[in-house]
Amino acid sequence: MKIIESITEMQKLSQEMRLKGQSIGFVPTMGFLHEGHLTLINNARKENDVVVVSIFVNPLQFGPNEDFGSYPRDIERDQKLAQNAGVDVLFNPSTDGMYRGTTMSASIQVKERVDVLCGKKREGHFDGVATVVSKLFNIVLPHRAYFGMKDAQQVAVIHGLIEDFNIPVQLVPIETIREEDGLAKSSRNVYLSSQERNEAPVLYKSLVRGKQAIEEGERDPEKIKSMIIENITSETTAKIDYVDIYSYPELKPLTVISGKVIIALAIKFTKARLIDNISFDV
Ligand code: PAF
Repeated sequence: MKIIESITEMQKLSQEMRLKGQSIGFVPTMGFLHEGHLTLINNARKENDVVVVSIFVNPLQFGPNEDFGSYPRDIERDQKLAQNAGVDVLFNPSTDGMYRGTTMSASIQVKERVDVLCGKKREGHFDGVATVVSKLFNIVLPHRAYFGMKDAQQVAVIHGLIEDFNIPVQLVPIETIREEDGLAKSSRNVYLSSQERNEAPVLYKSLVRGKQAIEEGERDPEKIKSMIIENITSETTAKIDYVDIYSYPELKPLTVISGKVIIALAIKFTKARLIDNISFDV
């Protein structure tokens, strides 16, 4: 596995690989790799000649009160995991290299799909994501890029970015990895007490029940939302942050459920805030 820190070196290598006719699969990450990342890497491995993984903790997507400074970093551990997963190139640029100090003269502002779900409380977060992902696409020059549907709003934003800027990259969304009882895997699950861990599968079960009710003919988003909220509040001690239903990937509110939709939720247990979603065609 090659480890590259220089942006020009990465770009040159990608150009050479493209000239040789090799397809490049790209998994952008902020490091501290976990099972979710490894699943993205496995998918990229199956579908491409070369797999590039980037590790870059992007300051632009952290708000002033968020954890940029204390975000977990362990490059040596990540290198081992990436190597074992069959990654060909690990791209690990510096913050100065990516943002030339603070002298960037342009950045991307995302106008749609951001003022809903988790974006409501994270002003500017998706501008930072879109800016770094555009830069990474221009450096890594991938044919395909892999993103987890656990963060469905991020996938929706990247989808819009690729369409609006005619970026020649195929977006490959990968289904959320779940525990056997349905709980979406997350590094935050370790913060659950044993009682909360027993309750947590109710989140996905409620989403599935919502989907079933829609499949059985219910088309009123408010009724589905109330049903899910009722399920969660009666069967868990979690506090609901939001339960919402939108068109996907546009993330527009619906008066009648139809087309491709997403049901997404965020809840708070004592020490962990969990998100989950389910998307499907109606
Ligand atoms: O999902 C993430 O880890 C980040 O938002 C991403 C896509 C690597 C951009 O910094």
